[in-house]
Order: sequence, then C-alpha cells, then structure tokens
Amino acid sequence: MFYIRTADKLQRTARWIEQLPGGLAYLKEVVLEDRLGICASLEAQMQELVDSFFDEWAEAIADPAIAAKFRQFANTDEGLEGVETEKDRDQSRPVYWPRDAATEDFAGLRDRWSSTSWQPVIEASYFAGADDMPNGVSAAIKRGDTQLALWRVKGRYYATQQMCPHKRAFALSDGLIGQDVPSSSSSCSGAANANDARNGEKEETQGEVTEAAAKTAAAPWISCPFHKRNYDLSSGACRNDDALSIATFDAEERADGLVYLRLPPVEELDAALGTSKWKVKKGDAEGEGPFAELDRKIGFKGRRAKKPGVRPVGDLPMRRPVEVMAGGGCGGAPEW
Ligand code: FES
Repeated sequence: MFYIRTADKLQRTARWIEQLPGGLAYLKEVVLEDRLGICASLEAQMQELVDSFFDEWAEAIADPAIAAKFRQFANTDEGLEGVETEKDRDQSRPVYWPRDAATEDFAGLRDRWSSTSWQPVIEASYFAGADDMPNGVSAAIKRGDTQLALWRVKGRYYATQQMCPHKRAFALSDGLIGQDVPSSSSSCSGAANANDARNGEKEETQGEVTEAAAKTAAAPWISCPFHKRNYDLSSGACRNDDALSIATFDAEERADGLVYLRLPPVEELDAALGTSKWKVKKGDAEGEGPFAELDRKIGFKGRRAKKPGVRPVGDLPMRRPVEVMAGGGCGGAPEW
C-alpha cells in the first residue's frame, strides 16, 4: 500500500525504490517499524483492497448478457478462424503475418456482383445508443463463410468486409472511426451522406467538385486496429495506402426492426471474401520469423536442459491456498 500511495503513475517498483529517499532502509523503517505511524492505516487500506477484489473475467463469463458481448459474431454463435496456428518452442501461436497484402480491387466488387438483394442480418436494437457515442456501435457479421463489419455512426449504417487487406486481419469492426470535417467548398452537402449517392443519386458537376464526391469526402473512415490503414466507409478506398481497398455494402434499418445489407448471393460473396480463402495460413509468412535472427545472435538452442522426449510434469498442486496470495481471487497465481 505504501508503494501504491507514493509511486508515480505507471512507475515500476524498481524505479520507485531507487527514487525513494532513504531507499530500502527507509522502507523497512516505515513498514516494519512503523516510523510514520501509518501501518494501521496501510493495513486497513490493504484489507479494503482485498475485500473489494473480484475476478472481472469470471463475472463476465457467469453473466450471459456480458458473455454475449464476447461472441465473435453478433448475429450467430458460430465462429470462424481467421488465422492458422503453428507450434513454436512447444507452444501454439498464430502464424506470423503474411508476406504480401491482398491488393485485389475489393472496392470494385460492388460494381461486379452478378446480382444483389437486401438481406436481414441483425436486429437494429443491437445498435441502441450508437448515436450518443463518438465511435458509434459496430458488429461483426457472419454470412456464409464471409465476415462482414457493420457500424451505426451518427444515425447512419455502414457495412464493409471485415478483413483488412493489409495483413489479412479480420478486425475492421474493432477499429476506430474517424471523420474529416467537411471543407467550406463541400459543406453544403455536410448533412447528407455518401450512402445516398450510392443508393441512386446521380453525380452532378458542380464547378470542379461533384456533389457526390463532396459527400464522399465527409464520409467516416475506419482505422484498422493493427497498423492503422484507414478505409473510407463509403467508397472503400484506403486513404493512406493506394494499393489497398475494401468492399462496401449498402445498409439500412427497416420498420420491421432489422438491419438489412444489400449483398450478392452467398456463394459469390464467399468466392470473393470467404474466410477460408483469405485466412492467413502456414507458409504465407514473411521470411523465417521475427525471432530467428535474435535466436542466431544469442545462440538459442531451445530447451537445452531437457532430454528429448521428457514430458513436462503437469498438475503440480499449489503448496498454499491461492486465497493467501490473491485474496480469494482468480486462482491463477503461482507461488514464487
Ligand atoms: S492488418 Fe495491417 S493495417 Fe490492418
């Protein structure tokens, strides 16, 4: 408690004790000899901390309403693996990033589908409160083998593919929304939305800037949570990497309380955007992996102290109850 009360924000204990006037000797005087007369207070504060501790993850799993927020997809309990795993030093991990980005013209798919139809994908109530939040509310949607991302932002719906083509990460619904402030030359269209242009409005030349182009400029963009490629939610263009783009889809809420997407037939959708086609697989990685050079440099040879074939000893019992260490907590703390 003395450390918690006196350390700077995010200051590690090592730096804290280095900077504590009097160092370790002073600390012993404070906590063992009660030099400052605060030990009873520190004990009480520690007890309060222990008494108020609870395992947030255990609580989340036990509460169906919270657990539902951690489903992969908002419209189904089914799941899809977006990346293969492989063994490394006896442990399973996702394969490394792929060597190449997916540079297909995903944005152009909307003009190449053989046909499209409006299809309900999720209840609109899922997005309750979205308009009060700067990032809106997003949902990952599963359709066949394809993963889609759907947002409600400032009263409008936007839908795209879920995969960021940079490293083929299925993550766009977890990104942050951004929106440029319209310039004065296009502010006349600020209240409108790019979806309107896609839904049938014609572009009309207005000086050098078309009205639809001005609307597109005001459309929000999604920033991939991994390496911050920014995609226009209207056009699908990547704003900071010309080689990349994403597929976008029209989306709207209807009186039946459902959100609809205008999608191609599911087979066609899967052929273009299916998870099994794009998920990162063994062999897609760049080079020999990020740690190979380091392993060579330090002469790493794996678990040299173990003979081949010797299995790790499992299920060693804890020598003391976890409660002693973690105050009745999550139960995962080893004794060392
Ligand atoms: S995976 Fe790299 S920016 Fe999205």
